[in-house]
Amino acid sequence: MAQMHTETWHPIPSSIDTIYQRDYEVYAPDMRRLYENAKRDQWNVSRDIDWSAPVDPARGVFNDGLIDAYGSPYWERLDAKQRHELNIEFSAWRLSQLLHGEAGAMIACSQLVQMVPAIDSKFFMTTQVVDEARHAEVLARYMKKKLGNKIYPMTTNLKALFDQLIGSGKWYIKTIGLQLIAETLAVSLFRMLAESSQDPLLCTVSRRILSDESRHMGFSVLSLPEQIEQLSEAERREVEDFTKEALRLVLSGQFPRAAYEAVGFFNQAELDGIQRYRLEVAKGTEQAMFRQLFRRDMHQQVVANMSKVGLLNDRIKSHLSDLGFNPNADGRGYNQSAAAAG
Ligand SMILES: [Fe+2]
Ligand SMILES: [Fe+2]
Repeated sequence: MAQMHTETWHPIPSSIDTIYQRDYEVYAPDMRRLYENAKRDQWNVSRDIDWSAPVDPARGVFNDGLIDAYGSPYWERLDAKQRHELNIEFSAWRLSQLLHGEAGAMIACSQLVQMVPAIDSKFFMTTQVVDEARHAEVLARYMKKKLGNKIYPMTTNLKALFDQLIGSGKWYIKTIGLQLIAETLAVSLFRMLAESSQDPLLCTVSRRILSDESRHMGFSVLSLPEQIEQLSEAERREVEDFTKEALRLVLSGQFPRAAYEAVGFFNQAELDGIQRYRLEVAKGTEQAMFRQLFRRDMHQQVVANMSKVGLLNDRIKSHLSDLGFNPNADGRGYNQSAAAAG
């Protein structure tokens, strides 16, 4: 199956100040530890994933419970073969979004290598560039093997988020958007995929990706607090507005209508029905268990990380409440000592 892209790239204008640092002293031992861990824990998509394992074509990819229509009358009326087809299409749509996110992360991190002032941070960021390239590589390769290489275009929300953070001239805006917000969501998603996917190869791929992610969140927790403390009132406002917008973009997940259209089982009115059903489920009435766990997991992590970097003031708390969070929940968040030791 050929890729269905009409558009596979677009330019993003940006102007960034590159800092050519020539002081090589260790000023941030925690950051150096993260760098050491990154070098130690590299893995290779070609060598460390068993691509020769046969893929069971009868098996779906994501857990059926993740499909928006699951549990609704629309789902009930499908036979086993149709459910399987919808599962494959839906999984391709979601994984496409994750794949585009990994590619965007790689680009943003390459800018961060240039922009972050300290050599400790520059060294670490070079490893995240490689990590994100590997994540894009592994997902693209998985989709080729399992999903007929069907890659959907990125959603308008994801594009808006990456356009903003790649276009920004401030490193801490990129780090808040990427390492603090987008990656918190990605960690919760990959954790859910690792634990629940119907295809064991996707469980393995997700676990591998997750093994890199605590370092990436670690970067934001180590680098942001001092910077955020030093911001002027106007800069802080800008950061808060960006944070609010990034959270909104990340959390208002988009309905994979194109995937439902591709299988051709539903007319437009039924698609609207599925979309409505999805919103009701999102409000938490009769949601599959692990979707609730996912939300709670991600919400706690977002709140905890915001608090760790010094962003959780009343203004951000009220944004979080508007988005359906409980900003006073005590979350686990990123555990700095665990990641440094791990
Ligand atoms: Fe990644
Ligand atoms: Fe990452």
